[in-house]
Amino acid sequence: MLPTIKWDNGKIIMVDQRKLPGEEVYVECTDHNQVAEAIETMVIRGAPAIGVAAAYGVALGIMGLDEKDNLEERFDQIYRRLERTRPTARNLFWALERMKRAFFRERDRDLKKLQKAMLQEALDIEMEDVETNRRIGKWGRTLVKDDQTILTHCNAGTLATAGYGTALGVIRAAFEEGKKIQVYADETRPFLQGARLTCWELEKDSIPVVLIADNMAGYLMKKGEVSLVITGADRIAQNGDTANKIGTYTVAVLAREHNLPFYVAAPMSTIDFTLRDGNQIPIEERDPDELKWIGDVCLSPSRIEVRNPAFDVTPAEYITAIITENGIARPPFQKSLQELRKNKA
Ligand code: MRU
Repeated sequence: MLPTIKWDNGKIIMVDQRKLPGEEVYVECTDHNQVAEAIETMVIRGAPAIGVAAAYGVALGIMGLDEKDNLEERFDQIYRRLERTRPTARNLFWALERMKRAFFRERDRDLKKLQKAMLQEALDIEMEDVETNRRIGKWGRTLVKDDQTILTHCNAGTLATAGYGTALGVIRAAFEEGKKIQVYADETRPFLQGARLTCWELEKDSIPVVLIADNMAGYLMKKGEVSLVITGADRIAQNGDTANKIGTYTVAVLAREHNLPFYVAAPMSTIDFTLRDGNQIPIEERDPDELKWIGDVCLSPSRIEVRNPAFDVTPAEYITAIITENGIARPPFQKSLQELRKNKA
């Protein structure tokens, strides 16, 4: 399997996703500030992978403390630094909350034991994420038939998780089962996660993939060349409204217009049960230069005003089903998501 993030003897190593597919280089982090920076600058991205990185960030932060430190004060600083990195990704906060529970459970033990326990919690989060994605894949593959063509947006694969992927996990599971499928990968402007990362991953796994520009989906749907859409999610509200990479909403509206199923694949940890609907999901706005520049080339007049929201919210009524590790939720999501929360599969 491709490497996304790994603990390696006192440091974490991540593949630099800004450089793929041209260069396969790795970034090493030895403290929580470096991890926070790696998340902000998109060395690592994708909601579940961000969660895993943040958990390791907390572990590294605690491992850097000594007996003289005020543990609670330092924990709070580490936590606050990491939570400021990417506001939309629910898994970031989910993982930080889990690390916080571990900290308060273990803080009265001696420092060495606390440090060991914090690292173990991060390792568990990483390992469980891969397992979760495999379960998402098993549920999701039942929705994919032989000879179908699947459109996906952004990258919800191994690179966006600790391994296997969510949307791409479903695609992988269907492919591994022997189904003949083909994938259309939206290029996903402006950061090009589809063109650079999804295509790279699928090509490595020999899963047939065709790259398209974001504005081609409607044309292909109208011609009958798309059977279904599967995307990942950054945060899902309790009513099923789903924040995902900018452009997802457009694809969902197009799918509805062409009577195509639109599936979201995500772990339960992406669901924010504290939010009534998608209006409450914070949407990250990123640096305008991500839109204006490709490498060294400026695509527009340099002083032009730019909007760069990184995510949009697809209203629940456009979503056919949400595939989780606990099963498949169908509308009304208010009820079905709560049921999946209670009935762990
Ligand atoms: O800005 P990114 O690349 O972090 O956005 C990623 C996405 O929108 C993914 O689709 C989402 O996080 C799900 S990843 C399994």
